[in-house]
Amino acid sequence: MVSKKIIYPFLLVVIFCLSGFSYSEFSIKPKYSVPNNDEDLNRRVDSLMALMTLKEKIGQTVLYTTQFDITGPSIDDNYLDYLREGSLGAMFNATGSAFTRKLQKIAVEETRLGIPLLFGYDVIHGYKTIFPIPMGEASSWDLELIEKSARISAIEASVEGLHWTFAPMVDVARDPRWGRISEGAGEDTFLCTKISEARVRGFQGDDLSQDNTILACAKHYAAYGAAQAGRDYHTVDISENTLRNVYLPPFEALVKQGVATFMTSFNEVNGVPATGNKYLLKDILRDEWNFDGFVVTDYTSINEMVHHGYAKDLKHAGELAFNAGVDMDMQGGVYLNEMEKSIEEGTISETQLNQSVRSILKLKFKLGLFDDPYRYCHEDQEKEIILSKEHLQIAREVAQKSIVLLKNDDKILPLKSDTKIALIGPLADDEFNIIGNWTARGDRDGVAVSVKEGLEARNSNFTFTKGCEISSDSRSDIANALEIAATSDVVVMVLGESERMSGEAASRTNIKLPGIQQELIKEIKKTGKPLVIVLMNGRPLDLSLESEQVDAIVEAWFPGTSGGHAIVDVLFGDYNPSGKLTVTFPMTIGQIPIHYNMKNTGRPAYIKGANERYSSKYIDAPNKPLYPFGFGLSYTTFEYGSISLDRETLSENTTINASIEVKNTGEYDGEEIIQLYIKDVIGSITRPTKELKGFKKIFLKKGESKTVIFEIAAEDLKFYKNKSGFINEEGKYEMFIAGNSDHEFTDSFNFIFSKI
Ligand code: GLC
Repeated sequence: MVSKKIIYPFLLVVIFCLSGFSYSEFSIKPKYSVPNNDEDLNRRVDSLMALMTLKEKIGQTVLYTTQFDITGPSIDDNYLDYLREGSLGAMFNATGSAFTRKLQKIAVEETRLGIPLLFGYDVIHGYKTIFPIPMGEASSWDLELIEKSARISAIEASVEGLHWTFAPMVDVARDPRWGRISEGAGEDTFLCTKISEARVRGFQGDDLSQDNTILACAKHYAAYGAAQAGRDYHTVDISENTLRNVYLPPFEALVKQGVATFMTSFNEVNGVPATGNKYLLKDILRDEWNFDGFVVTDYTSINEMVHHGYAKDLKHAGELAFNAGVDMDMQGGVYLNEMEKSIEEGTISETQLNQSVRSILKLKFKLGLFDDPYRYCHEDQEKEIILSKEHLQIAREVAQKSIVLLKNDDKILPLKSDTKIALIGPLADDEFNIIGNWTARGDRDGVAVSVKEGLEARNSNFTFTKGCEISSDSRSDIANALEIAATSDVVVMVLGESERMSGEAASRTNIKLPGIQQELIKEIKKTGKPLVIVLMNGRPLDLSLESEQVDAIVEAWFPGTSGGHAIVDVLFGDYNPSGKLTVTFPMTIGQIPIHYNMKNTGRPAYIKGANERYSSKYIDAPNKPLYPFGFGLSYTTFEYGSISLDRETLSENTTINASIEVKNTGEYDGEEIIQLYIKDVIGSITRPTKELKGFKKIFLKKGESKTVIFEIAAEDLKFYKNKSGFINEEGKYEMFIAGNSDHEFTDSFNFIFSKI
């Protein structure tokens, strides 16, 4: 009987030869060539898979962090041991070409097959040049600029050895108590889809084999933004129709666009944790949408299925996650430590494991890592590319366009250059919070530009004092603040949250300005001086008091590295603000959840014929928000003409063109974000009172007019209805085109299924 010791290696050689594999494929070639077609790609993956042991295959499904930037509970930092054993396929929080080269060298030279590592990182709104937080950037509604910002982020990240970003976050969010509302594109599905597509275009470019394009990651799949009570990681319990019509469309759009990876969310969805949710991960993502990238978990979210009460232990959690469709385990160590046993027992199939490993290896090949594992390590280019003047200038432009002017009574803004300013507030001289959170390798102090530095750069005439802290109740500087206010022409207060008050694990039950900032406003108000507030915050705030007390409100979000310059550009009119809200600002927290397109209900309030008492409203607050979705002022004014439709009826194979003239009727050149809203009047399920279905951002010189045309197709009117999937329904559709969502319907058309 020939012993196994002889037959196995012999078999291995036979497979090796038959697979047409030449080891040189894995030697590090001076010139790289990536697979030039799917056949070549599959052949190369097959050749490698044929050589891999079970342990090496499992290794590819393991993602571990270095000891830097831990973003969750730490498990262990034995990553170097796992790396040397060939038990790691990817790492995150390793940055800098020198460091990633060092780790890659271990993977390539010290492991049996030298399979290169994938380096991932949270490059959310910039790598070193930090752009406004995503919700801020989204307020620009400028898809080209948003793509450019992601492109620069990818260029800076890739020059420092990174191959993969855990972005964009595509979670529709409608609850300002939830701190992660800051990381996405707001409350509207259509806008969130468009902005997420722009971000993926920027990250992935159109050729992943370029060494300045990186894998993007659609996260957090799915419906993370629907966490109950706005409490992070909390339960999500929503109808199939809401899941499909509100939360999933941006993810589906990114699959169609070719996003490379998905990340599962921490929350459960209707009783099943997303990380173990076969319906989401297999039935929808793979079978319905044909996603062919790989799925990574969020940080230890496999392990957390034990806490969810869905897995009896870690091994069971690993089996649930893997069999639901999760390919890679972020930081949980579950696939690392438990999967071999599950495969031996048959609760996980090696065939399925091969499928996951293939999806991971394919992307490593596409990035060119097998031909040159160090191709993203550019020690020699880092200095010239990182924080370049061009990048900082574009960051300033993005910040300018992200700023939303919410109030400007008596045109107090823009300020005149010689205005004597009293600059007050805990964020006026701040270089730390101004870049927000999830700031990758962004520098805070010394690189980011504060508002005070912005004023100094403009040689403005101002006096500064803090007046108060962000959240402490120290009143020691109020007197000083009142003193400088009394001798100024205008008071500019820079107020808001600390960067830690939004983002992950930062839900708030009170969304007013923290600390004694509101008290300071009231005190300053008593001086009778014109009062401008500039806000830095990561969520919609309850500004009901401020809206009564102050003359102007400038919503700057956390505007990033060049934020101070951008804010000052707006204050003096060097840039005429054009941003529009992508999230509703409630009148009071009691209205939450509140978004622009709630359902009509059977007893709508405040409409003709509504019963004063018995209608859907509050007895202690209005239904209307303080500032609606799509709202934002300019220093100029825009006048909208009436819509003209080129036909009254739409069918599946025709379109309608809706055109409208918009005129700049004010004193300043400026940009306007023109928005198209449509209402499906009658549906076989109740439909939102209106839905954003298009937008265009145009520049108009003062006095200039332009005609804008929106093309409406049947596809735009589809909605998901349980069991029937996405459908069109015949009937009347109303519409309007305006500068924000709070507007009456002005026109209508009919949709009919074509008779021909
Ligand atoms: C965090 C976040 C996720 C991030 C990941 C890696 O917990 O939920 O968005 O990409 O861990 O840092």
